[in-house]
Amino acid sequence: MPVIRFVEADGTTHEVDAVVGQTLKQAALDNLVPGIIGDCGGCASCGTCHAYIDEKFLPGLPPADDNEDMILDGVPATRAHNSRLACQIPVTAEMSGMLVEIPETQL
Ligand code: FES
Repeated sequence: MPVIRFVEADGTTHEVDAVVGQTLKQAALDNLVPGIIGDCGGCASCGTCHAYIDEKFLPGLPPADDNEDMILDGVPATRAHNSRLACQIPVTAEMSGMLVEIPETQL
């Protein structure tokens, strides 16, 4: 199981054994990581799974589509170059060791 480290805005870190094939959002929810909400259930419409993705893993991820790009434009926290919707990123074995930073707010 790939180990993903979710880091809250205050630095609190949650090490999660993620399941290959689930999304980063689901890995966070299944492990009660605060700050990833996922109000829309993962259909890329709410933006409450906004996360800052470990830069070294960005090139290996599927690119954001136009809808994800639009939703990220509306998130309340600062959008950064490594901002993604965690519900749009499937976990792979290669992601072990990834850091996922959680914004200060999702609402
Ligand atoms: S869970 Fe709603 S956009 Fe990701």
